[in-house]
Amino acid sequence: MTATRAELSGMMDVMLAAFDPIYGEAWNEQQLLSALMIPGTRYAIIDASGVIGPPTAAVETAGFYLTRQICDEEELLLIAVAPEYRRIGLASRLLRHLFSAATDRGTTRLFLEMRDDNPARHFYDSFGFHQVGLRKAYYRGADGNLRNALTLSASVGKTM
Ligand SMILES: CC(C)(COP(=O)(O)OP(=O)(O)OC[C@H]1O[C@@H](n2cnc3c(N)ncnc32)[C@H](O)[C@@H]1OP(=O)(O)O)[C@@H](O)C(=O)NCCC(=O)NCCS
Repeated sequence: MTATRAELSGMMDVMLAAFDPIYGEAWNEQQLLSALMIPGTRYAIIDASGVIGPPTAAVETAGFYLTRQICDEEELLLIAVAPEYRRIGLASRLLRHLFSAATDRGTTRLFLEMRDDNPARHFYDSFGFHQVGLRKAYYRGADGNLRNALTLSASVGKTM
């Protein structure tokens, strides 16, 4: 799935603002571009008023997700909301959009990898995700420390 320059730029702005470099979770633009070229990769972008769609010149990108479908499974590769737009329901709206779109394209299960001490765990819990795995030393942060990742999974079609 190709993205326009404005979409890429909006996603990278959110990426750099949203992920603390100390944890090593953010992707660089080349990684994002490479992922977007792989079949089955999809994304959605949201603005501060909660509208999901392509960014316009007048409206700043507030958040996005990136996902990859393989057969009837899908991995949520990234979801992020810029710090100034948090806790107003934008990531929830993005995730509801993903659940709905994933249902439509035949996905039955979603997976994601999450740093084990990320407070986003509360967010995922509320969408029915549960832990199905642990990857030790998965993230290497800017401080040189290695951190574990949890693999979470949720059924699609039953949540929301
Ligand atoms: C995780 C993230 C996407 C949540 O975005 P958001 O738009 O603020 O989320 P929402 O407003 O939809 O939150 C919905 C609910 O999830 C829970 N939640 C969200 N962020 C939370 C946090 N930091 N701590 C605890 N609970 C949280 C709360 O229950 C919240 O409801 P409430 O605000 O009424 O209490 C955002 O904090 C972010 O971009 N974090 C950095 C990137 C990241 O870690 N992404 C996930 C990687 S796996």
